Amino acid sequence: MDNRLFFSATERNRNCIGDVLSRVIKKNGSILEIGSGSGEHGVFFQKRFPKIIWQTSDPDLLHRTSISSWINHEELNNKMPQPIVIDLEKIPWIIPLKILNSLQGIVCINVIHVAKWTSTIALFKESGKLLNKGQFLIFYGPFKIGNKHTSQSNYSFDNLLKIKNDLWGIRNLEHVSDEGKKNGFLKEDTIIMPANNFLIIYRKIF
Ligand SMILES: C[S@@+](CC[C@H](N)C(=O)[O-])C[C@H]1O[C@@H](n2cnc3c(N)ncnc32)[C@H](O)[C@@H]1O
Repeated sequence: MDNRLFFSATERNRNCIGDVLSRVIKKNGSILEIGSGSGEHGVFFQKRFPKIIWQTSDPDLLHRTSISSWINHEELNNKMPQPIVIDLEKIPWIIPLKILNSLQGIVCINVIHVAKWTSTIALFKESGKLLNKGQFLIFYGPFKIGNKHTSQSNYSFDNLLKIKNDLWGIRNLEHVSDEGKKNGFLKEDTIIMPANNFLIIYRKIF
């Protein structure tokens, strides 16, 4: 059965995210993706970086079903593991040993503004335990800089998010980075991406 979901933004942003990832990720090892959604990014990056094991995850069963369907559709069953359940705040995250032992970094695309702030705190805490010195945690999405929106459209989007759930919202980059520091992550790069998004690279420094 075809249970693939289609998230329109993924087609627009996957190439430019992939271009940055290609500068950061090493040839081998595994990458854990948090909040993989439809799975379109997962299969795209698995194909773009064939030597990597791309481990998707999502707390939502419908999304995990879609991810599995995408893996099947793209004939990646022999290469790519099935999605795992990770809800940021349900710690410890349960990760297959094969992934854990070869983990080189964690990627989180368009998640933290549609989750509670405590989820961002949990993300850094748990990533801090899983990652070693030199490994990365990458965020992609909209951010406020200096507590200010970077565009009128992000301001409107933020308001819409808060109508849906008053604990959601576009996060202030400095607050996110402060949380990173508490868990041993330093912001290595802030890359301006299309459509008022940013890609932020944090590096574990101890
Ligand atoms: C806007 S979608 C983005 C999906 C995908 N990363 C993309 O860019 O298309 C947000 C995703 O975050 C997941 N999510 C929400 N809260 C979460 C949490 N507490 N822990 C992990 N994932 C969460 C949702 O299930 C959803 O798949």
